[in-house]
Amino acid sequence: MIPLDEILDRLWQDYARLTPQARTVHDLLRSRGERIINDHVAFRTYDDARTGIDRLAAPFVEHGYGPGAEYAFPEKKLTARYYSHPDATRPKIFISELQLSALSRQFQSLAVGLIDQVSADLRRPDLCLSGRLWKVSYAQYEVLRAESEYGAWVAAFGFRANHFTVSVNALQSFDSLDALNRFLQRHGLRFNAIGGEIKGSPAVLLEQSSTLADETAVEFSDGTHTVPGCYYEFAKRYPTANGSLYEGFVPASADKIFESTYRR
Ligand code: NI
Repeated sequence: MIPLDEILDRLWQDYARLTPQARTVHDLLRSRGERIINDHVAFRTYDDARTGIDRLAAPFVEHGYGPGAEYAFPEKKLTARYYSHPDATRPKIFISELQLSALSRQFQSLAVGLIDQVSADLRRPDLCLSGRLWKVSYAQYEVLRAESEYGAWVAAFGFRANHFTVSVNALQSFDSLDALNRFLQRHGLRFNAIGGEIKGSPAVLLEQSSTLADETAVEFSDGTHTVPGCYYEFAKRYPTANGSLYEGFVPASADKIFESTYRR
């Protein structure tokens, strides 16, 4: 079993290598003396039994993570579940999956074709760290993207962190999510404004914002193309009636945050 610290470190190293803005955000916050705690790390996948939420969650469950609520995103044909650890300083793990049966036959056969290429390899215990295992062409990516931007992202990037999320509660020098957003914008970060720059509110116990995904060069089987990759998210949680911070997510907010990787 891979130690949890190693899993999280390898996820971060892969994400930071792929996502230049991740280092920028870290350096900007560190320059203010901040220590960064991650609220959650997010994954994306297809709901095939070989690649679904349970498969990606397995190494986290081994380390004591337990399942939290499930969420449905009917418009995007996604479902999601989060996992949390008894040690609250550990990031939650948020895993969503695309419901292939809700897509066209062409989409399904393309996506299942990717999975079939690497079926044996998908049993590896470090699947969540394995990146893209299959070969995919840019032409195929475009066919998938026409129906689901999310589905095309999974085809291009595979199994890795889609985003990390800074816990705004753990920051010392920002009194609001808005103040953090404005600080990062002054330093050139660009935010996803779909559905408002700040999604959610104190009333729903969670406020979130996210940057626009970095444009990332991806090697497809028919050439290298630049497509939207990974982004950074920021979350501020509010206390529930019993005084502890709200642990869950807000589907109406997450629905728009998924669009941080849409082509612009
Ligand atoms: Ni997120």
